[in-house]
Amino acid sequence: MKKLLAPSILAGNHANLTDALRTTESDGRQWIHLDIMDGHFVPNLSFGPQTVADLRKDSKLFFDVHLMLDNPQLYIDAFSDAGSDLITIHIEPEYDHLATIEHIRSLGKQVGIALNPATSVDKLHHVLNKADVDLVLCMTVNPGFGGQTFIHDVLKKVEELKILREKDHKHFLIEVDGGVCPEHVKPCLDAGVDVFVAGTAYFKGDLNERSEFAKSVGE
Ligand code: DX5
Ligand code: ZN
Repeated sequence: MKKLLAPSILAGNHANLTDALRTTESDGRQWIHLDIMDGHFVPNLSFGPQTVADLRKDSKLFFDVHLMLDNPQLYIDAFSDAGSDLITIHIEPEYDHLATIEHIRSLGKQVGIALNPATSVDKLHHVLNKADVDLVLCMTVNPGFGGQTFIHDVLKKVEELKILREKDHKHFLIEVDGGVCPEHVKPCLDAGVDVFVAGTAYFKGDLNERSEFAKSVGE
């Protein structure tokens, strides 16, 4: 499985998000993580499809779009048109998960399913049994804000997902998101993480630290 570090643009300057985009590109990263918050599913607001579309205009990075929304099914077309490459939806809210996954696929986009720290892997079974997803995102903080503390316990779920992936011959990437710092890379790799989202810890580093961070991940 490929290993990747996906810088989270949430940690950038929101009056000039292009800055974080340029840093990510010139560092040689392949992915950028974009957090969309609705003030309902999470107690914060971030930005919407227009911002994603404007960022898309001058970037070839892989746009890993994380929808933290109560009703993601209403916004799939908008975020697809905006130029997302992968759209991740959460398992916790009540909506038709399978139909929404199918909808994302029908638009030619990759699809991810996310679970909060308190949500068990069992909750994903009906989705993983019936649909093919490209990525499973394990939140390592309660979503809503950057700069929180990484919850180590979540790595047990990563191990569980890795075993399940092998047993069922699935190919989804396992992503962690929230509070990820260089010191977490080793335990995450041991547990089976493929994609590391990092906002605060990535952008606060200098060029050398950012490149060491990516190297430690194996990118
Ligand atoms: C939290 C977001 C994360 C966040 C990660 O709700 O989903 O992607 O941007 O940022 P750090 O690395 O600062 O925790
Ligand atoms: Zn995220």
